[in-house]
Amino acid sequence: MTVTVGIDKIGFFTPDHYLDMVDLAHARGEDPNKYLIGIGQSKQAVIPPTQDVVTMAANAASQILTPAIKADINMVLFGTESGVDNSKATAVYLAHLLGLPANTRAIELKQACYGATAGLQLAADFVRVHPTAKVLVIGADIARYGLRTAGEVTQGGGAVAMLVTADPTILALDAISSYHTADVMDFWRPTYRTEALVDGKYSTNVYLDFFKTVWADYQAQTQRSIADFSAFVFHLPFTKMGRKGLRQILPEADEPQQASLTAAFEASQADNREVGNLYTGSLYLSFLSLLRHGTLVGGERLGFFSYGSGAEGEFFSGVLQPDYRSGFDDDFLTRQLADRQAVSVAEYEAIFQQQLSNDGRDTQLAVGQERAPYYLAGRQHQQRQYRHQATN
Ligand code: HMG
Repeated sequence: MTVTVGIDKIGFFTPDHYLDMVDLAHARGEDPNKYLIGIGQSKQAVIPPTQDVVTMAANAASQILTPAIKADINMVLFGTESGVDNSKATAVYLAHLLGLPANTRAIELKQACYGATAGLQLAADFVRVHPTAKVLVIGADIARYGLRTAGEVTQGGGAVAMLVTADPTILALDAISSYHTADVMDFWRPTYRTEALVDGKYSTNVYLDFFKTVWADYQAQTQRSIADFSAFVFHLPFTKMGRKGLRQILPEADEPQQASLTAAFEASQADNREVGNLYTGSLYLSFLSLLRHGTLVGGERLGFFSYGSGAEGEFFSGVLQPDYRSGFDDDFLTRQLADRQAVSVAEYEAIFQQQLSNDGRDTQLAVGQERAPYYLAGRQHQQRQYRHQATN
């Protein structure tokens, strides 16, 4: 008997503050339309020192976990390239913070922005073999390129949490997918750096080449064509990147389908445009954005392009389930984005420099303003001090 496996629930967290891209453009002497249209970003999440990938993941996961679901979780797969320790997995901190059962496998996965997709596919295969299992998959990152760099406009951050189960509420994953790896120096971050190194224009070309390769291979493997899809969801380092990806294959569709795929893309980029790049989580925020702002109905097939610099790409697909809207809290997500407050460019620059230092000193962060349930209070005796507070 074949088990239907996929995404049952999704949560998303991004911190309380954002930077307006028009303000950033003025401060950097650029035409605002370069950022708003040329790059396709309106706002960028500003990550305070009191949030790291562990707390952001906990804040995203707590939206989708009940005590009963927690008791059933067998595995936590944490995709991130912003890990807080070279040895200990963020997934272990997370499992403890969330109060997950001790008989849980907790692992961190790294391959640039591809880590969460690795987690999703490993989780799906695990559930195919163990149909009663529930797996928590995380994509959480802080995208940092540095002040006054070309990449600055593509920064951002946040976390997506997904529950992978049999008979999922949101999306049933197809078992066949196409993946491709090559040793490419388009974007990387050596262990001595807190900001990424990037060959920006080259990275956009590699992204598009990988998409072409895996899309062609997927079609050859499945005999499906563009006509079988209602929407394509892209990794969105900035929204224009996915737009270019879609344009690459649109000529394969007839005119009415070109219009519907373009409309679906507009829905899928809406939330990313407000948050910026969250690396591993970006593809899944785009998926959530499509579910929230699109007009899809159950039974439609969606295509996903995951890309992680360095580089690994994957095209996979899934079928939307009829009751998909009950797998996420739309009102909460709308409020979370709407309730954020703008910071000035000067405030953003100050916050950017306030990351927890890399020298192991005891540090007490300025806490007390947090609205999120989970936050970082500082470091003592070389250990991060995570806190949980009750919120409304
Ligand atoms: P840049 O040099 O600042 O920008 O770098 P540009 O000069 O290429 O301009 C960008 C676009 O704005 C162009 O449009 C201009 O024409 C347009 P395009 O030709 O691309 O269609 N433009 C305007 N449009 C309207 N009105 C105007 C105007 N002026 C210009 N007045 C770049 C841009 C993306 C390279 C830079 O921001 C960067 O390096 N970003 C970081 C790298 C990145 O995001 N790469 C994406 C692919 S790699 C990836 O996705 C993986 C990643 O997520 C990491 C991981 O895997 O972990 C990054």
